[in-house]
Amino acid sequence: MRKKIVAGNWKMNKTWPEAQALVNALMDKKNLIPAGVQVIIAPPAPYLQPLSEAAAPTLAVASQNCSQHDGGAYTGEISPGMLSSIHVNHSIIGHSERRQFYGETNEIVRAKVDACLRHGITPIFCCGELLSERNAGEHFNTVAAQVKEALFHLSAEALSKVVIAYEPVWAIGTGVTATNEQAEEMHSFIRAFLVKNYNQDVADSISILYGGSVNAANAAELFACPNVDGGLVGGASLKADDFMTIIQAAQ
Ligand code: PGA
Repeated sequence: MRKKIVAGNWKMNKTWPEAQALVNALMDKKNLIPAGVQVIIAPPAPYLQPLSEAAAPTLAVASQNCSQHDGGAYTGEISPGMLSSIHVNHSIIGHSERRQFYGETNEIVRAKVDACLRHGITPIFCCGELLSERNAGEHFNTVAAQVKEALFHLSAEALSKVVIAYEPVWAIGTGVTATNEQAEEMHSFIRAFLVKNYNQDVADSISILYGGSVNAANAAELFACPNVDGGLVGGASLKADDFMTIIQAAQ
């Protein structure tokens, strides 16, 4: 059974007092979270431990990235073992901003997925095409390559632990959301690709989230698409009321 998940990617936003205020506001409204919807927040790294103490298990906490290495001389990096030692059990991996600004290739993303799984961390694996790729009719090929190169070396059991987020790059932070048809088309494509390379049971166990300008007004329609199992939300996750409306839309 696919889990409904709404994850908030805070990116590089919020001072510590602002972060505390946002989590307090969400916790004040925790009774509004529908049973069966898993809520995850991905705050900046310095806030992971205190926010996890304040909010778990109501809100799970994810890192926005993690190293592919288990430890050693990698200045500035955070290993998956460090994250799991402070009870951070999810990590966003391969976000398009990491791919674009930090040169993360499918090969690096694959190594990060493996590193997470070695340490019991659920990777929220991001894929999605550029606008130029969509305009050239290449969007299915791009997403298929990202999924295949980062995930298809995994056993069925390991793959079942991954959450996939489809985030068309042209929809991230732009206010231009994929239409319901575009989202459903890609989500069902990804699911069929999983069936083809693994089997129906694996495909049916993996949550595929949509990300890219999800907001309080469009979430319900997007989440009603049969193959959309929730969302990865950026800007709208920074406001408690909007994020709670989006969480409720995943019911
Ligand atoms: P957005 O970001 O909701 O602000 O478009 C989504 C994301 O980058 O995960």
